[in-house]
Amino acid sequence: MEIDRRAFITSLGGTAAVALMTSEEKADALEHYMEERLDELVLQQQGSTPPDYPTMAEIEAANAKRTGVRRGAGNIFNASGRDGQARGLLPAMSNRPTLLEFFEKRFAPANHVLQSATRALKTGMPEEIVLACLLHDTVLTMMKVDHGWWGAQLYEPYVSERITFAIRYHQTLRFYPDDKFGYEYPESYLRTFGEDYKPEPYLEQTYEMVRKHKWYDAPRLVTVNDLYSFDPNAKVSIDPFIDIIGRHFKQPKEGLGYDHSPTAHMWRTMMFPDRPL
Ligand SMILES: [Fe+2]
Ligand SMILES: [Fe+2]
Repeated sequence: MEIDRRAFITSLGGTAAVALMTSEEKADALEHYMEERLDELVLQQQGSTPPDYPTMAEIEAANAKRTGVRRGAGNIFNASGRDGQARGLLPAMSNRPTLLEFFEKRFAPANHVLQSATRALKTGMPEEIVLACLLHDTVLTMMKVDHGWWGAQLYEPYVSERITFAIRYHQTLRFYPDDKFGYEYPESYLRTFGEDYKPEPYLEQTYEMVRKHKWYDAPRLVTVNDLYSFDPNAKVSIDPFIDIIGRHFKQPKEGLGYDHSPTAHMWRTMMFPDRPL
């Protein structure tokens, strides 16, 4: 390691200060200086080394070794906790479940969607966008693969078409940057999908359609709020969204799952994930 003599002397308080030091003190100071510089150099080198992302082939090889539920299944179907122990039964649902009850008993802790919606609310976005942010990933509890489409379908009987448009296509737009909205390709996707992943033709075609659509801004604004870099300790709550839900979510009086809507069975699936048929 090279020593910058001038920087070293300055760090000690100048030549006058160095002149007053014993040779032992100088040797100690030099050692200390070199240690600090070495730590800095190591940090610099670590910073400039590109992070190690898996390739698609490596991800596939890991998937092939997987046991238990596959990656595309929602967590609700995983009976094991992180430590491999039984998670036990999920809280029982009432006879007339509301969206809030699902938030409490099936989507919880729902931090990610609550944080997304909180950001949308704080930045003054329209209520429909705030609600789209609040709902955009809730279906992940049941299904992860193509969750934009699943989520939009789940909510179709209960919210406006613009909200389902935002939910359906946020998944596709996540793969495509847009400088105008300050949206970049997520670094986490290099890890999740592989560094060599390119969106499949169906996603490319969907992107081309959505990009030209008059409602493009709706799913795009969901992606703008769809961040994972929020303060993990920030306290979020459903409370600020209760009025917006009341204005934009048609809660069925029979309860979600019992209203015979085209997606009632999806709500029942989330209610009873232990049923074998
Ligand atoms: Fe999503
Ligand atoms: Fe998300």
